[in-house]
Amino acid sequence: MDGVTFTDFEDRDTEWVLGAIVAGARATLTPERSGDQSEAMLLERARSDFDRYHHQAKGKDRVILAWHQGKRVGMVWITMEMLYQNPGGAWLLEVFVEPPYRRQGLAGELMAQAEGWAREQGAGEIWLNVGGGNRKALGLYESQGFEVETMHLCKRLSPGS
Ligand SMILES: CC(C)(COP(=O)(O)OP(=O)(O)OC[C@H]1O[C@@H](n2cnc3c(N)ncnc32)[C@H](O)[C@@H]1OP(=O)(O)O)[C@@H](O)C(=O)NCCC(=O)NCCS
Repeated sequence: MDGVTFTDFEDRDTEWVLGAIVAGARATLTPERSGDQSEAMLLERARSDFDRYHHQAKGKDRVILAWHQGKRVGMVWITMEMLYQNPGGAWLLEVFVEPPYRRQGLAGELMAQAEGWAREQGAGEIWLNVGGGNRKALGLYESQGFEVETMHLCKRLSPGS
């Protein structure tokens, strides 16, 4: 995208990055579950995840921000910390683009940078989680060459049924 520049995460970016993680969580949750989660709950979880997997990470991670005209407009977060994948894999923890900047290839560019970093770390594969109903993200990941390997299924158990 023309005029977009990229920087690595600095502490001054924290609140914006947490907002992006909350937006990613909302996009991942089903509408029913999203309705059960207040903004404060999602923000608290985002803060704790960012603390756990960035500040206190057990493996290397990288957070790249995209900027346009002095504003943060997108981010990607990737880690080499082994979560559920085989050794030597990277995990893409978040990708987010501000709504006015979508459908212009920015997420694709951020993911290409994350992939380049993972290759430099010697990663042989990149894993990620996505909400089953998150069509935009599914479209993005498919366009980037990702394929379904595992799926989480859920049955809600109501009392007495
Ligand atoms: C998903 C998201 C990051 C995509 O960002 P983006 O900058 O619009 O993506 P790009 O412009 O790079 O799109 C690349 C490809 O992804 C697919 N894609 C992106 N948005 C799509 C949409 N709304 N519907 C269908 N496919 C879509 C397309 O294949 C697109 O290529 P094309 O525009 O040439 O058709 C953005 O919509 C977002 O921030 N969503 C909220 C956060 C989120 O869901 N994060 C992922 C959590 S798992």
